[in-house]
Amino acid sequence: MNSLSVRHLLGINELNSEDIQRILSTATEFKEVLQRPIKKVPSLRDITIANLFFENSTRTKLSFELAQKRLSADVLNFSGSQSSLAKGETLVDTANNILAMKVDMVVIRHSAPGSSHFLAKRLAGFPKSKHAQIINAGDGTHEHPTQALLDAFTLQEHLGNLAEKRIAIVGDILHSRVALSNIRCLQKLGAKVSVCGPPTLIPKHIEQLGVKVYHRLQDVVNSHDALNMLRIQKERQEGSYFPGNYEYARFYGLQQQHLLGIDRPPLVLHPGPMNRGVEISSEVADRPESLILDQVENGVAVRMAVLFLLASRP
Ligand code: CP
Repeated sequence: MNSLSVRHLLGINELNSEDIQRILSTATEFKEVLQRPIKKVPSLRDITIANLFFENSTRTKLSFELAQKRLSADVLNFSGSQSSLAKGETLVDTANNILAMKVDMVVIRHSAPGSSHFLAKRLAGFPKSKHAQIINAGDGTHEHPTQALLDAFTLQEHLGNLAEKRIAIVGDILHSRVALSNIRCLQKLGAKVSVCGPPTLIPKHIEQLGVKVYHRLQDVVNSHDALNMLRIQKERQEGSYFPGNYEYARFYGLQQQHLLGIDRPPLVLHPGPMNRGVEISSEVADRPESLILDQVENGVAVRMAVLFLLASRP
């Protein structure tokens, strides 16, 4: 079967490890397509996809749009701030109106955790919308499944099979959808996942997800195969979780000196957008070994794989 066990991509939680492996191996094939002079394939001809972005995005929005165009889909782009939402229309009414125009898939980014689940459930009750497939492009602090898949793809390119590999996610774990999706995705691929950050930014009881918790950055640098550095999500924080950027950078900002003198320094990833000089120094971000732009490049192939496999469902 060349499709996924799920009808929608709402989170990594709903995928099994075979689904993840299938997405990653299909992405390898699409990455090869993207190296060719003619990068476009007809796989999604006659499929129409609406990108509904109610929250800011650079990488995810452009990467989904490019993936859709490389697959020959018809693409509609919708920005929440310029829509009739400002006149009081609800999310479900907005989606139903877009789907009434014979749209097949909806990619949604929204600040509310669970928004893509809510949409998938509600749309199933409307005759004109019940066949639509929903893809979560980031729902508040909950999940960002395609980011986790492209991170895993990038790690596999450099580490091979991720079983037993030690991967640390560093920074604002409390407010990060990338952290939760990465933990779930990497564990389903057999990796040993850790988190590192100040106690105020690590969710209580996170050990119950099977992760190891560190509070000293040098300890994870010395002992892990890769670090995924996360930014401080100021827009999702109420109150103050640490004294200021200077103190954060001093204790949790990855600097060149952390990586010196280690036989096999860890790979360094960052999902973006970066706060240079806070969670990562420019020296580290711009090292030739940094994988940050590889993640962005791989995002197109991984999103092509997700769209293609979802559309292949019988
Ligand atoms: N990594 C990520 O989601 O970036 P954007 O917010 O720019 O899409």
